[in-house]
Amino acid sequence: MDFAGIYSRYSLMIEAVLNELAPELAQPELAQPGLSLREDVLARSLHYVVSGGGKRLRPVLALAVCDLVGGDLEVAVMPAAAVELIHTYSLVHDDLPCMDDDDMRRDKPTAHKVFGEAVALLTGDALLTFAFEVLARTEDLPPEVRVCLVREVAEAAGRKGMVLGQVLDMCYTEAAADLADGEGSWLERLERMHGLKTGKLLRAAARVGALCGGCTPEQLALVTRYAEMVGLAFQIQDDLLDEVGDSSQLGKNTGGDARLGKLTYVSLLGLDEAMGQRDNALAEAGRALDSFGHRADFLRDLADFIAARKR
Ligand code: IPE
Ligand code: IPE
Ligand code: MG
Ligand code: MG
Ligand code: MG
Repeated sequence: MDFAGIYSRYSLMIEAVLNELAPELAQPELAQPGLSLREDVLARSLHYVVSGGGKRLRPVLALAVCDLVGGDLEVAVMPAAAVELIHTYSLVHDDLPCMDDDDMRRDKPTAHKVFGEAVALLTGDALLTFAFEVLARTEDLPPEVRVCLVREVAEAAGRKGMVLGQVLDMCYTEAAADLADGEGSWLERLERMHGLKTGKLLRAAARVGALCGGCTPEQLALVTRYAEMVGLAFQIQDDLLDEVGDSSQLGKNTGGDARLGKLTYVSLLGLDEAMGQRDNALAEAGRALDSFGHRADFLRDLADFIAARKR
């Protein structure tokens, strides 16, 4: 099977599990958005944000890593879907007017545009807590591995991970940044911010896949390094696409980073240097896979996919 075939095999497994997890995420009649606050509004908004449109990159990464270490995909698929739920929550909150104030996501109006800000906020909260419910439900794994997964995902998403990255993203706008404040060069701060706001969850996805697959400590260290570098490259590409991407292909509006005066690889270094940094990170990611030989070909292709992506 080629790269696209394997990617779609993994992502179809994820779609199936997301549909199976909660019937309210799968009922088409609930997909009709409406601003009125009916009692089923949470079910409708959850269905709206979880169904379709996303690349499902994080759970695909988890399944690919599980495969790499010789694990059973059926065991990894629930925890992988939990990571996607957390990612989806992060997008719903990231788009809110008090954050990036974006109107489009995954080719559709953002959740707060359809359901109002309060419901969008609560939809994010529901997805975050639901993710841990799903992780705890993974009955095929011994309890100690389940606890390990919960900790892995909580640390990546929380105050020392994605949430901190999102806070730094706000601090480093032109309007808020005090150039005399803080430690390290702006490039170092930017790299750290990207590592937190995007890298941590991708890293957790890879580690979840590895832990579900019964990896060795050496394998865990290598896939962690791979995912950290892929996470950095992924966010640099996101910065590039915000500047030069086509919003109809991307499924979200472009130009938001410049509008908000964000610190990004493009605003700090320009397009060419940003592409160079992205490619360096991807080359580093590839090196982490050397000892796996051909078994890691899908993950190598995934790195190329990230550099070439238009969506
Ligand atoms: C967008 O992530 C947010 C970032 C962390 C850059 P994705 O580009 O993976 O979004 P979806 O899930 O495919 O919509
Ligand atoms: C988002 O980064 C990172 C998250 C944790 C959601 P961006 O704000 O650049 O993501 P997009 O461009 O809105 O998808
Ligand atoms: Mg943002
Ligand atoms: Mg955003
Ligand atoms: Mg962006």
